[in-house]
Amino acid sequence: MSVSRVGLIGAGAIGRAHLVGAAEAEGVEIVGIADPNVAAKALANEFSIPWFADHRALVDQMKLDGAIVATPNALHVPISLELIGAGIGVLVEKPISDTVEDALRLARTAADANVPLLVGHHRRHNPIIRTARSLVRDGKLGRLVSASALATFLKPDAYFDEAWRRTTAAGPVLINLIHEIDLLRFVCGEIGSLQAITSNAVRGFEVEDTAAIIIQLKNGAVATITLSDTAASPWSWDTSSGENASFAKNSIESHFLSGTDASLALPTLRMWHYAGDRGWFHPLSIGIVDYAAADPYVEQMRHFGSVIRKEEEPLCDAFDAAKTLEITASVRQAAQSGKAVRFS
Ligand SMILES: NC(=O)c1ccc[n+]([C@@H]2O[C@H](COP(=O)([O-])OP(=O)(O)OC[C@H]3O[C@@H](n4cnc5c(N)ncnc54)[C@H](O)[C@@H]3O)[C@@H](O)[C@H]2O)c1
Repeated sequence: MSVSRVGLIGAGAIGRAHLVGAAEAEGVEIVGIADPNVAAKALANEFSIPWFADHRALVDQMKLDGAIVATPNALHVPISLELIGAGIGVLVEKPISDTVEDALRLARTAADANVPLLVGHHRRHNPIIRTARSLVRDGKLGRLVSASALATFLKPDAYFDEAWRRTTAAGPVLINLIHEIDLLRFVCGEIGSLQAITSNAVRGFEVEDTAAIIIQLKNGAVATITLSDTAASPWSWDTSSGENASFAKNSIESHFLSGTDASLALPTLRMWHYAGDRGWFHPLSIGIVDYAAADPYVEQMRHFGSVIRKEEEPLCDAFDAAKTLEITASVRQAAQSGKAVRFS
């Protein structure tokens, strides 16, 4: 198998996860790091690869096939555009951009240049989520009726010591909800409209601490997402899936999908159905759907290598990620107006 040479631009928290993922993934090798922070130099030493303060030097000197953009959000589009201009395949972290307009500009530029671009919605690479998507798509739940997602967790008080995290530049809607919207679209189908309520009643910051979102899917199913970063609660994907070792792992379920024939809970993949007579007077049978466990960050890196070599289509391209961003970004608008926001 040929191995794609990849540069890492931005080597903070998620950059490290990509380094660890790439070390395990087939067909891809991270050959250098660009990050002005001196902490990144130590990280480069740890992985025995060269460090550059500026991404242009990394691009000029390391003969890259691809690059990961894991910088603060505002740099995602400008750096990705430079890489596309140089014909280098891109894995850009989520959110693809600060604005939908810039996300679409990036999507069109990559498509016109025929340079592969993958967006780092890593949950799509989790085999639990991929299994759930197949079950829904193959009709194993019957017709999908509803989905309920709980994303309620507690960010420690120290997290809010940084002033910007108390403003609308941060908050669970911008930072965390995007994963739930993307998961819902990927597993259950396209979103037609949503309504929302947000609250800052507990922390009292400018930004919301809690939100409830109700969603109409285009396939007729309905969904709800309950979101809070101030709840002493185990019920969230991050604190149950074990996907990211930084978080505690609780043995609970956070996502519940119901269909006319069966229901499915995640991340356990417990499936409920009527083995005999149907209806609420009769007991449901429970089974656990089998799947092959894999680390989504490793799988995302393997996939990126294949995307660079044009062996696979991006599992999340820039147009797709722009839609997830558009829907996520509409939540505060929906909460402020009290009206439904509709999507084409
Ligand atoms: N997919 C996920 O699960 C996930 C998780 C966390 C963060 N993210 C995303 O990844 C991105 C980074 O988040 P993070 O938590 O790692 O942040 P971070 O602050 O830990 O790391 C960002 C790094 O970018 C570096 N940087 C700043 N300007 C740069 C430049 N011009 N060139 C190169 N490097 C530069 C900083 O020095 C820092 O090391 C964000 O867009 C975030 O939304 C994704």
